[in-house]
Amino acid sequence: MTLSLTTPRPLIAGNWKMFGLETSLDEARAVAAAVASKPPAARVALCPPATLLHRMSEAMAGEGVLVGGQDCHQSPSGAHTGDVSATMLADAGARLVILGHSERRAAHGESDALVSAKVEAALAAGLEPIVCCGETLAQRDAGQAQAVVTGMARASLPASLAGQDFAVAYEPVWAIGTGRTPTVADIAAIHAALRAVLIERFGQHGATVPILYGGSVKPDNAREILATPEVGGALVGGASLKAADFLAIIDAA
Ligand code: 13P
Repeated sequence: MTLSLTTPRPLIAGNWKMFGLETSLDEARAVAAAVASKPPAARVALCPPATLLHRMSEAMAGEGVLVGGQDCHQSPSGAHTGDVSATMLADAGARLVILGHSERRAAHGESDALVSAKVEAALAAGLEPIVCCGETLAQRDAGQAQAVVTGMARASLPASLAGQDFAVAYEPVWAIGTGRTPTVADIAAIHAALRAVLIERFGQHGATVPILYGGSVKPDNAREILATPEVGGALVGGASLKAADFLAIIDAA
């Protein structure tokens, strides 16, 4: 990936989803050690389950790996059994938070309006949101991918993001955990459409917001995906659980 002075560093973020016990911190430590010994072109983040957040933040302290949450509640505190607020994520050492992941939209019924409210909460807590959007296979087959993704982005990105650090992640639902990826041309087309939305919403700032690709990013396809126009990084699921695979993807940026 060629960097210019106006292009922010790409972001390679690992989403551990509901995987990871204390022993898994060894993988994070291996990533941190490699990043410290050879600083990569990309910013690097790991988003473990909430139970590991604090321990991972402590293990990564002073290293070149940022730690993030995978979701937050839209309120800073309250009677919400089982939920975790953005303020709590920040208190545990998180710097970023993934919001609107398709697994949460599908399994927890999260609407664009709720995702937008969560983005507001993340900003209020000083977290950098990574806002996800992506189409299902049925929507792609019906020729609706671009309309669906840009619609989700418009409705999930509140105006208060203006001037703030954030990223958007394009994650086609059918590419997540399946080993299937869109063609590079299809990724480029959706990312170009998302870039247009970001510029329409946020002007010049929108031209610099990283747009990550996510969905079956692996060491063997990362270089080609990351070299695609308007791809400003990757949101990596399964391949972020093993330090060697994640480091190979970081190297490709
Ligand atoms: P996989 O890389 O396992 O396909 O997961 C992608 C994802 O959902 C990242 O948020």
